[in-house]
Amino acid sequence: MQIDIKTIKKHFQKSIDKYPENAIVQKFMAQKLCAALPGQNFNTILEIGAGAGLLTEELKRHIIFQKYYANDLVERAGYYVSRYIPSAIFEAGNFTRINYRQKFDLVISNAVFQWFDNLDKVFPKCANLLDKNGILAFSTFLPENFMEFYSVTGLSLNYKTTEELENLLKSYFENILIEPFEYKMKFENPLQILAHMKNTGVNSLSKTKWGIKEVKNFCDRYKAEYPELELTYKPVIITANGLI
Ligand SMILES: C[S@@+](CC[C@H](N)C(=O)[O-])C[C@H]1O[C@@H](n2cnc3c(N)ncnc32)[C@H](O)[C@@H]1O
Repeated sequence: MQIDIKTIKKHFQKSIDKYPENAIVQKFMAQKLCAALPGQNFNTILEIGAGAGLLTEELKRHIIFQKYYANDLVERAGYYVSRYIPSAIFEAGNFTRINYRQKFDLVISNAVFQWFDNLDKVFPKCANLLDKNGILAFSTFLPENFMEFYSVTGLSLNYKTTEELENLLKSYFENILIEPFEYKMKFENPLQILAHMKNTGVNSLSKTKWGIKEVKNFCDRYKAEYPELELTYKPVIITANGLI
């Protein structure tokens, strides 16, 4: 299922202040993404979908750079970015519609690309924004992500497989490194799972608001199918360079 941009914005607007304390896996992804970078010295960085600044904070701590540009659909993300990098240039809006005039040596994004329904346009846009030796580094999720939730509700994003991502990227980059991993979270009851997803903006998966009946149905089925009350995350870290 792919979600329209207004719904994505609405849900992240609501969850942005609760995001940092709930987005445990996304924080881990940000750390892994920084660790996967081939160097620690950059001139001009662009961060796509900065949100509450989990990656921004991580980059500020470990990477040296001259100029930092950031973007997000949600205006309030600008507040979080400037908390970590006061000199950052933040632009709110849909990344696919923003025209940047300069080139970057690092375009980076954590846990955002699964929201794009047009990666075939996003990757060439990223490649065009890079200078000759520039790097695209991002993390996203694979089809097994939230597999328990999908089996109970039938709701999921159109996650791409590692092969699909590689095939899309290889028209623009010579060197592509793909590092999938798995992270399981454990909960005390199914309601906590719903709250966790809501507080990390993922309730965008359902277009209609659930009533008591849908929530009860979800809880009963989750407990029956997954009594250990786990939720599987399946992230992937990707770096690409060597522009074609
Ligand atoms: C899961 S959050 C990740 C936030 C942050 N990158 C982090 O490290 O935790 C996804 C973010 O992507 C943003 N986003 C989704 N689609 C976008 C788009 N088309 N353009 C810009 N930002 C987008 C959302 O507003 C949200 O803040």
